[in-house]
Amino acid sequence: MLEAKTVILGVTGGIAAYKAVELLRLLKKTGVDVHVVMTKAATEFVAPLTFQTLSGHPVNLDLFNLISEQEIGHISLADRADLFLIAPATANFIGKAANGIADDLLTTTVMATRAPVLIAPAMNCNMFENPIYRENEQKLRQRGYRFVDPVTGQLACGWEGSGKMQEPAVICEAAIALLSEQDLAGETVLVTAGPTREEIDPVRFISNHSSGKMGYAIARAAWRRGARVILVSGPSALAPPYGVETVLVTTAVEMRDAVMARLDEASIVVKSAAVADYRPVSRAGSKVKKDTGALCIELEKNPDILTEIGRAKQGKILVGFAAETDDLLANAGKKLTAKNLDMIVANNVSEPGAGFDIDTNIVRILYPGGKIEEPGLMSKDDLAGLILDRVLGLKN
Ligand code: CTP
Repeated sequence: MLEAKTVILGVTGGIAAYKAVELLRLLKKTGVDVHVVMTKAATEFVAPLTFQTLSGHPVNLDLFNLISEQEIGHISLADRADLFLIAPATANFIGKAANGIADDLLTTTVMATRAPVLIAPAMNCNMFENPIYRENEQKLRQRGYRFVDPVTGQLACGWEGSGKMQEPAVICEAAIALLSEQDLAGETVLVTAGPTREEIDPVRFISNHSSGKMGYAIARAAWRRGARVILVSGPSALAPPYGVETVLVTTAVEMRDAVMARLDEASIVVKSAAVADYRPVSRAGSKVKKDTGALCIELEKNPDILTEIGRAKQGKILVGFAAETDDLLANAGKKLTAKNLDMIVANNVSEPGAGFDIDTNIVRILYPGGKIEEPGLMSKDDLAGLILDRVLGLKN
């Protein structure tokens, strides 16, 4: 769906221009078409050829360059944009944009566009705190321009402070959200992800192979589509998705407590965590030493979080997962009914292309009443989108 979108990336003259190269690469990976406009100062930092090669289009530099006999460059670019993204944006660019000065291709095109404009400022901390800059930024915000706020850090000029451009991955996320249909606006989606870990002693634990990839993909996709998202995650190597309120837990009991404390806020719950069903009855305070014979660890049952949510669900849409190795449909069907779910996403975790710690999944989606959907092999990102589409279908 992002394949049909066009982003105009404006690059102005700051040292962070080198990060715009990475930003362009990330944008291209989402499938959007990107056209780059550079100011003259930007070309002092990065050669246009770099942007041209990565975008696959000539870089636009000159106000008085007609793209074809019929098209006036800046108007054609302005009309083509689904999103106008300026990264890095200098204080000079922001000052000009705020005050209606259009004296080069970038400022002219920004003034002529009707597309949403997203600005990632980058400047020295004293410039960033200057009331003149603040006023200009405020003026643009009031006119509906969006900002990806800079972060605090070591600046190229030697100062330490705010004004450092956000990381390209964060800017890219903000851009994707602006390009996405906001069909989950107003919803609060509570997602669980990853494994839980049940400690045996200070060095050992019981867990499973879940990486959290499926749940993180759902959380990210829901945020991009306008939802408020709360992600309760067991131990995972993945970075918390941008914009998502992430709560890190370790054990099943901690996950239950974190979920139940936030359940009232949620209108949609997606329970993709692989919760350990059992935990050791007692955790040894110091490392268990090996002995000559076998070792027995007594286990007791963990709470079934999804069953508890199913009992307290009220009007929420409740989505469960089923990780199976045998009798996929029969086992998943039982969980759908027993846990009072609106749908269950069942995967045979021993099937190649499905299951834990890979980027794809093969699922069957079961609904009350017996309907079964078989979407086939797909990426976890695409599956996340499909699950949210189905959730919306159930709500309407
Ligand atoms: N689940 C849960 N709490 C548990 C166990 C599972 O909330 N203690 C949730 C999972 O997040 C998933 C669904 O229940 O959405 C099914 O999990 P799964 O591991 O497939 O099944 P179990 O119910 O644990 O049953 P079994 O292990 O016997 O297959």
